[in-house]
Amino acid sequence: MPTRHLYIHIPFCLKACPYCSFFKEVGGDHTPFLDALLVELEREAADLQPETIFFGGGTPSILSVGELEQLLGGIREKVDLSALTEWTLEMNPATVSTEKAEVLHSLGVNRISMGVQSWEPRILEVLGRVHSARDAEDSHAILREAGFDNINLDLMFAVPTQTREEWSATLEKTLALAPEHLSTYCLTYEEDTAFFHRFQSTRNIDWEADLFEMTLDRLGEAGYEPYEISNHARPGRECRHNLAYWESADYLGLGPSAFSTLGGERRQNIPDVASYCQRMMNGESAVVFRETLNESTRRAERIAFGLRMNRGVERALLTPWASTVEEYLSEGFFCGEGSRIRLTRKGKLVADTLAEAFV
Ligand SMILES: C[S@@+](CC[C@H](N)C(=O)[O-])C[C@H]1O[C@@H](n2cnc3c(N)ncnc32)[C@H](O)[C@@H]1O
Ligand code: SF4
Repeated sequence: MPTRHLYIHIPFCLKACPYCSFFKEVGGDHTPFLDALLVELEREAADLQPETIFFGGGTPSILSVGELEQLLGGIREKVDLSALTEWTLEMNPATVSTEKAEVLHSLGVNRISMGVQSWEPRILEVLGRVHSARDAEDSHAILREAGFDNINLDLMFAVPTQTREEWSATLEKTLALAPEHLSTYCLTYEEDTAFFHRFQSTRNIDWEADLFEMTLDRLGEAGYEPYEISNHARPGRECRHNLAYWESADYLGLGPSAFSTLGGERRQNIPDVASYCQRMMNGESAVVFRETLNESTRRAERIAFGLRMNRGVERALLTPWASTVEEYLSEGFFCGEGSRIRLTRKGKLVADTLAEAFV
């Protein structure tokens, strides 16, 4: 069976945001990286017939028009795209141009995920973003004008000093643009970031819960289905690529730091751009980590991802933990619907902690 889901990591950003722990470099030469990526793609292309492709980062839209033509052209040439239904590319509003949007659209990208985070200038400043609210609005208009009819906007809430009113205003402004999909992330304090050291001690879980509930209420009212804890879609506009991850499907990840899960094995490419390029050019493997996924790890992952989704998990999958399930049902963290178990709102607030019981 060919691999149906392809992830490509573009490890460059204009600036490192102080809360972000994704693998990326600021600056850096794109040319050797693109050459190396095309080498890796060439090696793997024969086993690929993707239904979904996702360009993530970092900031894929940092690539110039010529670089995007080289990379996407390479994919079109080497990979069988006859089964492709969704091709997403992540963009930062500071890197969107009319020409780029038109080229991406003409080369087959049909879904854009743009990092807006907030429409409040004050919050964008706290987050250290490189773009203004105006840039984000203009970029959104450019993408629509270029023909994109499947757009996700990323937003972040519980940002230090953010008020309830500011988050509400960001939701309202976003709804006015009518995106097909919204990712609303509660700010996470990642250990290796400046935010962790500056603000972690100010974290307020009740306040996070309040903003989360407000988000579910407002987006639900506006017709968005909260199909995963942080993801809301218009009917039929769920991200198919992410759904495949959450349903534990196999996927191939290319580029530095990228993970793959294939045939019961998880592996990761080296998280270093120069070493990745060197390895590719020397005909060596970029993989630096491998683990065989045994049945219990796979089940724990299926449960953890499944619980984050609105459809929940099959009750049968939880059979070995019957007493924990009963406890979570009676405490109002779980609800049962036919043969499925789902998280209640109260459960969603502590999803990761609840999932730890099923390892
Ligand atoms: C790869 S970035 C999106 C594209 C582009 N790099 C950008 O930032 O505009 C993925 C998204 O993850 C979210 N994110 C990153 N770090 C986060 C954190 N510490 N807590 C919550 N969300 C985070 C942001 O919403 C961001 O837009
Ligand atoms: S949030 Fe996006 S732009 Fe900021 S550092 Fe992370 S990947 Fe780069």
